[in-house]
Amino acid sequence: MSAVFSDATNPAGDAPEAKRKGDCVIRIERLTKKFGRITAVDDLSLEVSAGRLFGFLGPNGAGKSTTIGCLTGLLDPTAGSIRLLGEALIPHSVEIKRRIGVMPEGLALFDQLRAPEFLAFNARMFGLDEKTTRGRVEELLEAMDLKSALQRPLREFSAGMRKKVAFAASIIHHPEILFLDEPFESIDPSATAMMKEWLRRYVAQGCTVFMTSHVLETVERLCDDVGIIHFGKLAWRGELKNLSGGGDIECDGRRFATLEALFLHIAGEQHRRLTWL
Ligand SMILES: Nc1ncnc2c1ncn2[C@@H]1O[C@H](COP(=O)(O)OP(=O)(O)OP(=O)(O)O)[C@@H](O)[C@H]1O
Ligand SMILES: [Mg+2]
Repeated sequence: MSAVFSDATNPAGDAPEAKRKGDCVIRIERLTKKFGRITAVDDLSLEVSAGRLFGFLGPNGAGKSTTIGCLTGLLDPTAGSIRLLGEALIPHSVEIKRRIGVMPEGLALFDQLRAPEFLAFNARMFGLDEKTTRGRVEELLEAMDLKSALQRPLREFSAGMRKKVAFAASIIHHPEILFLDEPFESIDPSATAMMKEWLRRYVAQGCTVFMTSHVLETVERLCDDVGIIHFGKLAWRGELKNLSGGGDIECDGRRFATLEALFLHIAGEQHRRLTWL
């Protein structure tokens, strides 16, 4: 396993002072986000505790990325409040933003930079010293199998290579909360397995992951808790520990043996035929 999340201490970007497991580190109260006449997130309230891997699910257009945008300060909520790590998230809350990491949906990388430059830029922006930055950039590029592309600008990277760089940039400063929007999309199975291992190690340290995914088997195996959003509203929230133990989960007085069955119950099954196919 890579030592990206090492236990060693150093002055900058060290394993953050972990919150006690169970402390509420993400508190969303009555969050609403409108884009003109579209209500993308509708009166959403949700809490996530430290040391948990939280999977945020929902159909396309349900409001997942918009919620992450609000949680990470990329979007201004229309109404409601957000507290991260016990502090209110207000516009320009620089201190909180230093303590979180984000891999947003639209990967805005600086395309003319090379991967080491981009990662070093991110690390320095988050206050890591030069030595720590150099070590982590090297380690991440090695672990992510990107060493053969050191001389190439990011604009030449494949979809999965870009995603790896974005993931590396989101964790390089060892944030206390990691927001990941579809982290494994386009990433090959070996790298995916390694990243999952990193995430498990990361939450074991008391840090917290808030991630979206449409791959329900992955969520079922990886996440501790799940929230399902539908038309901007929270439709279900619960723990998955019963599923991993071979049990089931309950919603609307019914029991479901898989996350997929629950998801289909909430979002509805689609069986449309095409007239020409
Ligand atoms: N910048 C924007 N301007 C206008 N409408 C937007 C904007 N961003 C998102 N929306 C709308 O808000 C709703 C929620 O979008 P969002 O991207 O949050 O969905 P999502 O759950 O992340 O979907 P997906 O699974 O496809 O990524 C959609 O109706 C979308 O069209
Ligand atoms: Mg999205």
